[in-house]
Amino acid sequence: MNDHILTLARENAPCYLYEYDVLRQQTETLRRTFPQYDLLYSIKANPFPPVVRALAALGIGADAASAREVLLSRECGMAAGDIFFSAAGKTEQALETAWNDGEIIADSLGEVARIGALCQRKGQRRAIGVRMNPGFGMGGGTGGPSKFGINEEDLPRLKALLDTVPVTVEGIHVHLKSQNLDADVLGGCYRDSWALAKRVQQALGCDLRYVNFGSGVGVAYDERYEQPMDLERLRAYTDAIAAENAVTLKARLMIETGRFPTARAGTYWLKVVDKKYSRGKTYVITENCMNGLQKPALAVMLRHAVGNGALTPYEPLFTSEWAFPIVAHGSGDGTETADIVGNLCCAADVLAEDFTGPKLEVGDLIEVKNAGAYACTLTAQRFSGHQPPRELLVYGDGRTES
Ligand SMILES: Cc1ncc(COP(=O)(O)O)c(C=O)c1O
Repeated sequence: MNDHILTLARENAPCYLYEYDVLRQQTETLRRTFPQYDLLYSIKANPFPPVVRALAALGIGADAASAREVLLSRECGMAAGDIFFSAAGKTEQALETAWNDGEIIADSLGEVARIGALCQRKGQRRAIGVRMNPGFGMGGGTGGPSKFGINEEDLPRLKALLDTVPVTVEGIHVHLKSQNLDADVLGGCYRDSWALAKRVQQALGCDLRYVNFGSGVGVAYDERYEQPMDLERLRAYTDAIAAENAVTLKARLMIETGRFPTARAGTYWLKVVDKKYSRGKTYVITENCMNGLQKPALAVMLRHAVGNGALTPYEPLFTSEWAFPIVAHGSGDGTETADIVGNLCCAADVLAEDFTGPKLEVGDLIEVKNAGAYACTLTAQRFSGHQPPRELLVYGDGRTES
């Protein structure tokens, strides 16, 4: 633990601290893996503006899932041509808001028709991308039903529709599953998506200017339990696609970063505000527990619901029981087993049950690792009217941005 981080945590807890150097290293790892691909940061993972600005300055575009994420990306310095707005169920208002600030990826035939109607009203012609629900599944087999994308077998209907509206298709987007750690499974999916791009081009008779392969490079949250993805192995797949692209489609190739740049860059810091003993149990009470970082409480809830049974991921609400390791910076003598809980008026407000670590006293800090993605943003912070935790981007030279 770097002293500077600890000092900032002491001064600001409850707070999220995001380390710029980790963001940059993770981004460099992706760039080394996909040298011929443009990277799109998945804003939803962590939309803290200093983080988005820092990634924009590193030359990354945006995978934006709402009109607000499109505008945020622009405000943080990204060019409209590097922002890709892909989401199911975009409202007309969202389409209008994002119209001039990003590329629009239509998610359904109905949305293509709505974009066409908007174009007619504006007296414009517009090029769009389409998200596809492929005929294949990840890891083999056939594709299933999905609320995302246009079914591959509906390409003839899409072609007929495009003949009636001032809209052309210039790109495709495919994303099947998050958090993959198996390079062959993800690489196989990219290879199949590339073949799909060629089928789309043929079926629609269009020129594909870009192919967005979606995200999927998983984060090994705790290497005691899971192996990081073999990125060299993945690169064999993506290099082969890029080599073929160079002599065929000559399209812009893109990968969405998902949580990869941010997940391990963040730590969440709580302060102990009270401690009590009740009928044989020790409770360490903190501020902004479930209402500062909700996911550990969801993991505890699931464990109660399932008993000793296996827990399966349910992204982004639940990843694994080891995704958020806890470090108690206790000042007391020796170790202790306690429930670490929060100061909300509900028993569900828990960080960890029966946690064993250095003895914690009032004023001590508790650190939660891997809190850079789907953490602050995926927490019900308005509950019970508490002040939300602070967020800070921390540079290696000690500067911070908030
Ligand atoms: C289209 C798309 N891109 C990117 C992501 C984020 O990827 P990750 O879960 O790896 O953070 C998701 C997650 O649901 C997604 O739907």
